[in-house]
Amino acid sequence: MRVILLGPPGAGKGTQAQRLTQKLGIPQVSTGDILRAAVAAGTPLGREAKATMDQGALVPDSVVIGIIRERLAAPDCARGYILDGFPRTAAQAEALGEMLQALGTPLTAVLSLTVDPEELVRRLGGRRTCGSCGAAYHLETAPPRRAGLCDRCGGGLLQRDDDREETIRKRLAVYREQTAPLVAYYRGRGLLREVDGRGDIDAIFTRICRLLGAEG
Ligand code: AP5
Repeated sequence: MRVILLGPPGAGKGTQAQRLTQKLGIPQVSTGDILRAAVAAGTPLGREAKATMDQGALVPDSVVIGIIRERLAAPDCARGYILDGFPRTAAQAEALGEMLQALGTPLTAVLSLTVDPEELVRRLGGRRTCGSCGAAYHLETAPPRRAGLCDRCGGGLLQRDDDREETIRKRLAVYREQTAPLVAYYRGRGLLREVDGRGDIDAIFTRICRLLGAEG
């Protein structure tokens, strides 16, 4: 199964991708996670991307397309994957389409998660992420059992540098301008499935599984 999770910052792409990964046994491919890992490791890619990410802008298409080309060729992607945060521009969507056509591996579906803008700001402001395993939490709606520590691995929970309110607003504007047009792009190709991203995380996951025919 090859699925794109599309949606604004805070829509729950990462949260739902992690669940799908566990249920379907295929990897979550998150360009944001790959870039943050490069920043943390201080690689040339990370040094180049950090300032752009901290401003809430998009890393150049050529950079992320290269990352995805390499990642999708890895053996663990052979049975499928969940794309989280890619594509984000028309050029990225076109490049992905060409890659998949060359591989003979068409997309299964593009799931578009919709959430009200004020709810997005609230979610991102309260988000905390495990610095060790990447598990996502929210201070109010999905708190860890022990404050500041991951339930899964005991790692310390961190706030992302781009989750400050001013940067959140910038990321939302970038989404509206550059990524939202992909909803129409994939609708025109008959791949788009709208998912109500409001409400309980488990209820949203159930909706997604139903759309993918992966209940039970
Ligand atoms: P990226 O890491 O992809 O961030 P994003 O798209 O802004 O998405 P988020 O991770 O913020 O949100 P999400 O939808 O995954 O929500 P989550 O599940 O975490 O990108 C970061 C940066 O990297 C970009 O700004 C750019 O610079 C660069 N980049 C990445 N990809 C790129 C690309 N393709 N091209 C160019 N540049 C790229 O949930 C958020 C919070 O809400 C959590 O706390 C969670 O617990 C909570 N939550 C989730 N669901 C619910 C719910 N139903 N109810 C209540 N709370 C919930």
